[in-house]
Amino acid sequence: MGLDELATESNENVDQIRRVVEWLKAKKLVDVELKARTLVFLGKEGRDAAANGLPEARLARFLSTQTGQLPLPMVNVQLGMDATAFNAAVGRAKQEGWIRVERSGEGLIASSPTLLPTQPAEELLKKLSAGPTDKKSLSSEELAILATLSRRPGYLTEKEEKTAEVRLLELPPGINLDSSEEVVLTASLLEKAAQGSIRLSKLDVSSASPVLPMGREHPMATFLRHVRETLLGMGFEEVDGPLVQSSFWTFDALFTPQDHPAREMQDTFYLEDVRSKVGNPALVKKVKRVHEDGWNIGSKGWGYRWSLAEAERSVMRTHTTAITIRYLAENSRESAKVFSLGKVFRNESANSTHLMEFNQIEGIVVERNASLRLLKGYLSTFLKGLGFEKVAFQPSFFPYTEPSMEPAVYSEKLGKWLELGGSGLFRPEVTVPVGVKNPVMAWGFGLERIAMLYFDAADIRDFYANRLSWLREVPQCP
Ligand code: PHE
Repeated sequence: MGLDELATESNENVDQIRRVVEWLKAKKLVDVELKARTLVFLGKEGRDAAANGLPEARLARFLSTQTGQLPLPMVNVQLGMDATAFNAAVGRAKQEGWIRVERSGEGLIASSPTLLPTQPAEELLKKLSAGPTDKKSLSSEELAILATLSRRPGYLTEKEEKTAEVRLLELPPGINLDSSEEVVLTASLLEKAAQGSIRLSKLDVSSASPVLPMGREHPMATFLRHVRETLLGMGFEEVDGPLVQSSFWTFDALFTPQDHPAREMQDTFYLEDVRSKVGNPALVKKVKRVHEDGWNIGSKGWGYRWSLAEAERSVMRTHTTAITIRYLAENSRESAKVFSLGKVFRNESANSTHLMEFNQIEGIVVERNASLRLLKGYLSTFLKGLGFEKVAFQPSFFPYTEPSMEPAVYSEKLGKWLELGGSGLFRPEVTVPVGVKNPVMAWGFGLERIAMLYFDAADIRDFYANRLSWLREVPQCP
């Protein structure tokens, strides 16, 4: 059967049928034969001739009903053809020997002696007027006539059509042709089937089905959601801030001296000609003092002249610590559990383990009893939530924390330790100017390297290359 027929028979659309047939073909249950056929259609003149007869035959028939000879113009008054068609009809009828035309005093006169029987060409036209006809269904005589008719303008058109003939090779297991009734499976039906009073046909639920790649969340988005949910579950609150920050929040408020190597252009992206005003002159004054001579908080400071212009240079934030310190300055709370998750930017060249932009998770806990030990507890709980049982800490240095430590997790998959960013207790040089009295535990680290472990990505760039094949195959977040 052809696809169109199958579609009508099964009351489905042709596209649906085409898919089903492809599927059955792959399972070798049907055989598909592609066929090309030529369909013959009648044009306007052809339809007219099919209904009223060929013009030359009509002319001859009319004349045969008249006695004697008639002048040609009078004949066409009766037939009502247009002038060219009439002249052509006269020519053809004469050629066929159906009419005689003579010249007389009144001009051309014509007559036809005998009544003309229906012509084979007229029979063929009638047959074709029933609808598009497969050329193969015509006899060789009909094809010969078709060839002459197709030379007449407006009679016939032909169209190539490709069809697929589908033939059933084998009935799929469990399909019963005699009772194809669809039923909703109920407990009582199952009971009846068990007693043998009805027969249910089997459905092979384990048979392979085509893979339809459906829309899914980006793996990185899934992972970030998991990170968020872990911290929300630990009672943290999320805060956010702009990607472009003043150097003030990124570095100065974090007691990072203005000549610190992290501030160099080769490490940090600066925005030319864009100033980020800090406002808050009281805070600026305190930060300046802390940098210059340690102010009155028992610090020596860095011993240089601090510049507001330098602090107001705009940077693509290099770490999310810029967000948490700003949160503290703007809220100066006695206690807080806050995290920030987002992109940070570093002027590095991209390779399989580094990108110029990546996601960082940052957290702070402000509380009276803050200690390194408590910080270890928070980090261990958080990292356990991300799937790491073994967590270790090693001493480290950051300008804004003291003591500082670098957390590391053990990856069973890689069989090695993975170092993660940093953590520590904010120095008084950081907390006092922003007006926070209680100690602050802080940490921050990049997330892509952990995501690589989660999703077995060999290359960090996989996450941002938008390769559909990879995105489709990457496993769900474990
Ligand atoms: N900001 C540091 C980094 O980007 C991490 C850090 C955050 C360290 C908070 C100490 C405290 O690596």
